[in-house]
Amino acid sequence: MKCQRQKFNLQRKHAYLNCAYMSPLMKKVENAGIKGIKKKRKPFHISPEDFFEESEVLRRHYSSLIDNNEPERVVIIPSASYGLANVVSNLPFSNGEILICDEQFPSNVYPWLRLQEKGFEVKTIGPTDSEKRGESWNEKILESITAKTRVIAIGHIHWSDGTLFQLEKIRTRLDEVGGLLIIDGTQSVGALPFSVSKIRPDALICAGYKWLMGPYSIGLAYYGSAFDNGVPVEENWINRLDSDNFSELVNYQKDYRKISLRYEVGEHSNFILVPMLNQAIKQLTRWKPQSIQNYTHELLSGAIQEMKDVGYRIEGEAFRAHHMFGVRLPEGITIDKLKQSFHAHRVSVSLRGDAVRIAPNVYNDEMDVRKLLKAMKEPIFASKH
Ligand SMILES: Cc1ncc(COP(=O)(O)O)c(C=O)c1O
Repeated sequence: MKCQRQKFNLQRKHAYLNCAYMSPLMKKVENAGIKGIKKKRKPFHISPEDFFEESEVLRRHYSSLIDNNEPERVVIIPSASYGLANVVSNLPFSNGEILICDEQFPSNVYPWLRLQEKGFEVKTIGPTDSEKRGESWNEKILESITAKTRVIAIGHIHWSDGTLFQLEKIRTRLDEVGGLLIIDGTQSVGALPFSVSKIRPDALICAGYKWLMGPYSIGLAYYGSAFDNGVPVEENWINRLDSDNFSELVNYQKDYRKISLRYEVGEHSNFILVPMLNQAIKQLTRWKPQSIQNYTHELLSGAIQEMKDVGYRIEGEAFRAHHMFGVRLPEGITIDKLKQSFHAHRVSVSLRGDAVRIAPNVYNDEMDVRKLLKAMKEPIFASKH
């Protein structure tokens, strides 16, 4: 894959290596949003079919991205926390252990902590070896699954340093004890291949404004069969059977639309955000997540070696993703010094605890990487003179 910068409106003076924070919008995604805004100038052109059709297309595109052959299991959500709320309130268990990862993103922690009030135990799993961080972390997760485990709720990668979790192995171990696999794919789906058919998650929850390259306040959730008969966190008219028959809406229905559609957020037909996310995901299905891994790998591999040569520490390739990785600092360099250097060179990355999170994508090029390296090396050279 070649650099895709021309599809975005990025300014050359900024090196934006921070897709894990928020992606920039592609030009065609912006245009879809503008078209959506203009559509409401003439509401008489918005038909009952419009409330359904574009979301069906979105479901299909997303299903193709995540290798899911049941699009009716995909619903539109406003945030990852919303998607997780439906999971937590419909667990088919009344007690047992919930496993989460150390320093996980709060939207995938707070809902589980609530379950402690109902008698569940929430256990946090972290790496046990600072040298073999990723490997020891994965081993510890597998060891922690016991007959008491009801749920593992994690990401495909860790949101702050890109540590890769071996979901297929975790799935196999969970099958042995009858536990559910709940994945927050916000920091991976779109840029890292994910196969629903292979990993068989019980839920895959994803905010749309990072690696799915969509706008803010729209995401997607996949719910597996464990949630087929659940009660959604809100009861809105459009999720009930035959809601497309607008003249019969007060002929109240006790049944929901098929499979997982009961979990869709109210006003999911959003005429601005849905076409935007649709365009973005359509493009991702053309590029393919594996090509994004290959592109970011090739773009950064030389720079990663140079970072290591001057003392930065980075996880080995077997246990990290290429689209996002954490860099730990060498002795003598403070996060404040590095922050100043990034600011001076107009390099945008995230600083999380004592690590730098670098998150490139297909709009980044060699020039961005040169700026990044310069910003990271300068404080080291300055400390030696
Ligand atoms: C792993 C992960 N999950 C979810 C989110 C966003 O959560 P929400 O959509 O609930 O705001 C983020 C944002 O940084 C994240 O990194």
